[in-house]
Amino acid sequence: SFPSSVRIVEVGPRDGLQNEKNVVPTAERIALINGLRQAGLRHIEVGSFVSPKWVPQMADTPQVLAALPPMADGRYAVLVPNERGMDAAEACPNIGEIAIFAAASESFSHKNINCSIAESLERFAPVVARAQANGWAVRGYVSCVMGCPYEGDVPVQRVAEVAAALYRMGCYEISLGDTVGVGTPRLAKSMIEAVAAEVPVTALAAHFHDTYGQALANLLAVLELGVAVIDSSVAGLGGCPYAAGAAGNVATEDVVYMLHGMGIETGLDLMALAVVGQRISSVVGRSTGSKVARAVLAR
Ligand code: HMG
Ligand code: MG
Repeated sequence: SFPSSVRIVEVGPRDGLQNEKNVVPTAERIALINGLRQAGLRHIEVGSFVSPKWVPQMADTPQVLAALPPMADGRYAVLVPNERGMDAAEACPNIGEIAIFAAASESFSHKNINCSIAESLERFAPVVARAQANGWAVRGYVSCVMGCPYEGDVPVQRVAEVAAALYRMGCYEISLGDTVGVGTPRLAKSMIEAVAAEVPVTALAAHFHDTYGQALANLLAVLELGVAVIDSSVAGLGGCPYAAGAAGNVATEDVVYMLHGMGIETGLDLMALAVVGQRISSVVGRSTGSKVARAVLAR
């Protein structure tokens, strides 16, 4: 059966903007985050502490955090891949959560974070300990849960093993990334079933990119299994710099329209989201990737 409410984790300011060719001015990223908060979002991934050589779009994350108003009834999250990133994060205000990010495919792990899956887990352990000492929540990502741009098919058992390792390490939630958006609903179901045998389904989130237009169908499939946390990007911003051709995350507006239509609560204001999405789309120089936003703005 479907959940009665879903928590949306907005990843546009991080996953979306990290892949835009043009670096978005810091003031625009801050305006985006403020607009998302006003549309009702209470869980927003705002940046990352990674190498500016690899991801220059996120280099101004400290300035963004410094400019945000505190969010007492929600939290801002950032990606932290290693202790060097943790040093930088600890110098910033407003962080309520960090995310560590692993992959279910060895090739993707090497391309994305320059180490094997096992090495990444070793690197994350001290990062998690420091985050917990700071009172920060820790979220864990697994990439390539329905396929890898370099290796193709990824066994669901491998996804379950990596998810379980992150959960044991102290992540309160595991976000399962269809990085290249290749999954289809039956695979989405068997992937979630395999992971849910190791990690409670209430601790799982779906993070689906929409490259092949399958994200909403896959979300519907996993909602039915009890997944009640969905990652999305306003206007469908995004992609992945280490997955050529990957499109953005599923658009927040599209997810919200589907959920509200099914009587599932999100606490979000669809029209406000569409307006915020339209503005950031014009900043990055393209039209919104959300069909729902196009429709409601044309009304
Ligand atoms: P590394 O092991 O040191 O090796 O970094 P490297 O060769 O990849 O990078 C080396 C350079 O980064 C060195 O600088 C380091 O000092 C520096 P250089 O000597 O060349 O001038 N460095 C750092 N700089 C700033 N902050 C740091 C840091 N650490 C090292 N924390 C690292 C490993 C992971 C940091 C690096 O490879 C990297 O930044 N990779 C980019 C990772 C990334 O941001 N990927 C995109 C996000 S993940 C994603 O989108 C997937 C997700 O959405 C889920 C899904 O959809 O599947 C989460
Ligand atoms: Mg992603």
